[in-house]
Amino acid sequence: MKKILITGGAGFIGSHVVRLFVNKYPNYEIVNMDKLTYAGNLANLKDVENKPNYSFIKGDIVDAAFVNELFSVHKFESVIHLAAESHVDRSISNPLEFVMTNVIGTVNLLNAAKNEWKDNFSAHRFYHVSTDEVYGTLGESGLFTETTAYDPHSPYSASKASSDHFVRAYHDTYGMDAVISNCSNNYGSHHFPEKLIPLSILNIKNNRAIPIYGKGENIRDWLYVEDHARAIDVIFHNAKAGATFNIGGHNEWTNIDLIHLLCKIMDKKLNRAEGESAKLITFVKDRAGHDLRYAIDSSKLQKELGWVPSLQFEEGLEKTVDWYLANEEWLNNVTSGDYQKYYELQYTKR
Ligand code: NAD
Ligand code: DAU
Repeated sequence: MKKILITGGAGFIGSHVVRLFVNKYPNYEIVNMDKLTYAGNLANLKDVENKPNYSFIKGDIVDAAFVNELFSVHKFESVIHLAAESHVDRSISNPLEFVMTNVIGTVNLLNAAKNEWKDNFSAHRFYHVSTDEVYGTLGESGLFTETTAYDPHSPYSASKASSDHFVRAYHDTYGMDAVISNCSNNYGSHHFPEKLIPLSILNIKNNRAIPIYGKGENIRDWLYVEDHARAIDVIFHNAKAGATFNIGGHNEWTNIDLIHLLCKIMDKKLNRAEGESAKLITFVKDRAGHDLRYAIDSSKLQKELGWVPSLQFEEGLEKTVDWYLANEEWLNNVTSGDYQKYYELQYTKR
């Protein structure tokens, strides 16, 4: 049986990747290793936790001794690395945490993998899941391609850019089979309500202000999370060693247009009069260093590996809203305790 380590599998995207691999590949042994930070939640994996090919290990990738021991005991065939601090606003208040997990944690994994795999790199793969934010920001036109120069602006994107460079260095210097994908903004179920879409769904539901940074003119390119997980599956199994792929949905929205669409969906779902939820829109102080526009050219992935996004945005957004409205207990659990403190710090003085 192939033993595959998935790091960060209790988080938003990681839980969708774990679910896909556990269900699609019963002959793979999937080991989910996660620190269970505020963003990690084993309730995200309730439907697969009892499957015979799934196991969970709690651990911190910043702890090099733990990571080395993990690799030496488990003899992983490959790694899909998603564990990270992922929220730009938190990186602005606490950059060092991002350096520790995203940079040091990634290098710890690379070192452990190198030590275990050095005699036969071609039998193993290190797959690093990264972001389009490493490319910086676009003006009104153009798309990020795999050869766009790195130009990160936030501590989060700087830490992800650094981790990407280390992964490439281990491929180029030691010959490790490493692949990287850089994806645009994901949305879907199990998304922690600190990010724009789940936070807005929660606030609309509770009749609370929807905080829009600046004028809401920033543009993001949204992809349904299950389409990202499918892309990771295709790249993991088919990419050449050393390859990079951009993943995106050709689905650009200004934040304000997206929120109007979400308000319309929520009015319908909550039986509110049309226009009721949009009254909650509140413009607040802009994010420092706020990138204007992200947009991905994913034609390499489409042409070389045949991946295409499966869902139209309105359909995906409606499915997402349905999931949040049907999973009140999940929302209550993740928003108890520290979430309230975070919310006050982030929004009340804006
Ligand atoms: P998330 O914040 O929802 O989940 C991150 C997971 O990593 C959590 O389960 C957390 O407990 C775990 N983790 C954090 N620090 C850890 C540590 N030190 N040791 C072990 N585990 C730790 O993040 P996400 O949105 O699911 O993103 C997953 C990956 O995908 C990240 O690498 C992120 O940079 C990348 N990405 C995210 C998006 C997006 O839109 N969310 C887009 C492109 C790329
Ligand atoms: O592009 C990929 C990246 O997308 C991932 O690498 C990150 O992990 C992920 O968090 C996401 O980053 P963003 O900063 O784009 O996502 P966020 O949901 O935080 O913000 C989306 C847009 O909405 C952005 O322009 C900022 C704005 N925003 C966000 C929040 C939380 C608001 O206007 N108000 C808010 O309260």
